[in-house]
Amino acid sequence: MKLRSIELALPHAREAAAFLTDIWGMAPAGAEGDTHYLRGSGGFPYLVALAESADAYVRSTTFVCSAERLETLKRSVAAAGLPATPTVSQDPGGGHGIIVELAEGELLRFLTDAQDVAPIEGRDLPVKLTHVVFNSADAEATGDLAERALGFRVSDRTKGMVFVRCNDSHHSTAFARAGFASLNHIAFEMADMDAVMRGIGRLRDQNMAPAWGPGRHGPGANVFAYFIAPFGPVIEFSTAVEKVPDDYQPGAPEDWTWPEGRIDQWGMSDKDFAGLRAAEEKFRHRRDWEPQPLDILSEENH
Ligand SMILES: [Fe+2]
Repeated sequence: MKLRSIELALPHAREAAAFLTDIWGMAPAGAEGDTHYLRGSGGFPYLVALAESADAYVRSTTFVCSAERLETLKRSVAAAGLPATPTVSQDPGGGHGIIVELAEGELLRFLTDAQDVAPIEGRDLPVKLTHVVFNSADAEATGDLAERALGFRVSDRTKGMVFVRCNDSHHSTAFARAGFASLNHIAFEMADMDAVMRGIGRLRDQNMAPAWGPGRHGPGANVFAYFIAPFGPVIEFSTAVEKVPDDYQPGAPEDWTWPEGRIDQWGMSDKDFAGLRAAEEKFRHRRDWEPQPLDILSEENH
């Protein structure tokens, strides 16, 4: 199971796409109607889709997996009673699978048979997405649901977040204890720490300072720099998230405390709490499909 892409709807999608290519460092991956696709250097056909819309919202966050994993997922989603529907992707790479709505409206799409593309060169291109984090009214319950309904695993719990993995990367998603449901941020995996630092420099050229960072997190130990994108959401340059073994023991909030005055390993930078919070309110979840029965193969045929 791999996190692949996020699909957003927003006003002025073209301008947002231009920011992501010209300044953030992504490569264009074509447009289909009013939807713009942006890619990184890795094999995924795109990482971000931006569809023109009067309102800003999250259409889906897409994971790719094997056909076998998809079948397991269909059964656990149906058993959990979550709204879901079979889906065929019209986005680059195609593929088919399901889209699921979690308890607080988070829309996760799982595809199999989605095609990859040849990697491209570019030291300032993000390689891929490394995590998409959501705000939750009840992050603990959502973390539990991700384990039960999706087969994900909670990696760590802190005072602020429940970190969740779907492979050996410490987290591909997380649920922030925010008191409301929305997109918290989108993190792009950069090739190395230099690529993160050059990214900060590119944004500094545009008079954009990090809303938080550079720094190094506790859980996952990844390097980060968060920015508030001109088109609304919080986006992050990140690199070097920890790999964890299958039997990784989840930490509890009391295992992840900081010395007075610190909220990351380096302590280099201030955090714009108010600015980040306002940006996190902008992209809510919106389901534009009706739940349908999933075409679950019987155990005997599987
Ligand atoms: Fe992050």
